[in-house]
Amino acid sequence: MNRKPWTLAVLPGDGIGPEVTRAALSVLEDCAVQFGFSVEKIELPFGGAAIDACGRPLPQETLDACFKSDAVLLGAVGGPRWDALPLAHRPEAGLLGLRRALGLYANVRPIRLREPLRALSPLRIAPGAVVDFEIIRELTGDIYFGAHTIEGSGASERATDVAAYTVAEIERITRFAFERARRRSRRVVSVDKANVLATSVLWRRTVSRMAAEAGEIAVEHLYVDNASMQIILRPEQFDVLLTSNLFGDILSDEAAALVGSIGMVPSWSAGDGPPLVEPIHGTAPQLVGKDVANPSGTILCISLLLRERFGLPQAADVIERALDAVLAAGIRTVDIAEPGSRTVSGSQFTSEVRARIQKSPRAAEHRA
Ligand code: IPM
Ligand code: MG
Repeated sequence: MNRKPWTLAVLPGDGIGPEVTRAALSVLEDCAVQFGFSVEKIELPFGGAAIDACGRPLPQETLDACFKSDAVLLGAVGGPRWDALPLAHRPEAGLLGLRRALGLYANVRPIRLREPLRALSPLRIAPGAVVDFEIIRELTGDIYFGAHTIEGSGASERATDVAAYTVAEIERITRFAFERARRRSRRVVSVDKANVLATSVLWRRTVSRMAAEAGEIAVEHLYVDNASMQIILRPEQFDVLLTSNLFGDILSDEAAALVGSIGMVPSWSAGDGPPLVEPIHGTAPQLVGKDVANPSGTILCISLLLRERFGLPQAADVIERALDAVLAAGIRTVDIAEPGSRTVSGSQFTSEVRARIQKSPRAAEHRA
């Protein structure tokens, strides 16, 4: 062991958040043993659970601990129990507040159809076609962070949501996307609605200028309506898809369906403060207490953490190979079950992944 322990703030949140977080932490623990590093975890109240415990979705103590950590692992927040609260007091407001406070303006959502799940995609993916792209979602601006108001009453009630982007906000997410593209095919598709929205006009103009300055990145612009169709018609055409906060939220759920289940997709948020990993799925209140939730998205968050933050790509590969081996053996949670597969509980699925990590030859090699 050649470094002081990594510190990880753990925010399990609500619904299935705690169970998928627990699964991911057990995988992290296996990797720590196999690869000889250590992690100090601090668990903190967040979301609805924090509202119940201390009246606020993002307690100061939680925020302070996140700032002091090397990274943050988040489960999911929200649920019917808090649905009647005004927007600013809901669990989701805590999530937005956390992203904003940590300056996490860049959200990476890897959309990868894992080979054993090919037949599960609701689409006919052309044989041999590779679906493997990254959605780069801007995360701290747009309509999410403008004023939200509801005024008046009865038939004259009126609501507004303000969308805003500055050039500086667009530039930094574009720089980030170009950097990701340099590690891949140097192709970026930028998605906007520049035929209608002023924020999108500024977005497109800024991205185009930066592409011309950078020279080496091929940028194509798509309107969001067309992009949502293209994701279904020909998903293999995408490599890095850059988009704004709201469009990224919507397109990433669409893209997740294409890779078999929203339970398969992790995400990585980066910016000024400590990076944060979270699965893109929600709290799935209907699954709580049944031990059926698919932990893969959160387990893949650990892979992202190891690859992007801890500088341990070999450990990340071991996780991904273990997961693929479990899927290939036909061991599935209910959301990714198919004819001939064996459906297991969420915790059994995690045990299967862990057993393969523990036996991984690459990990043994690393230890030697
Ligand atoms: C996501 C979620 C969040 C978002 C919600 C829970 C606020 O849908 O991370 O995709 O809209 O960003
Ligand atoms: Mg979403």
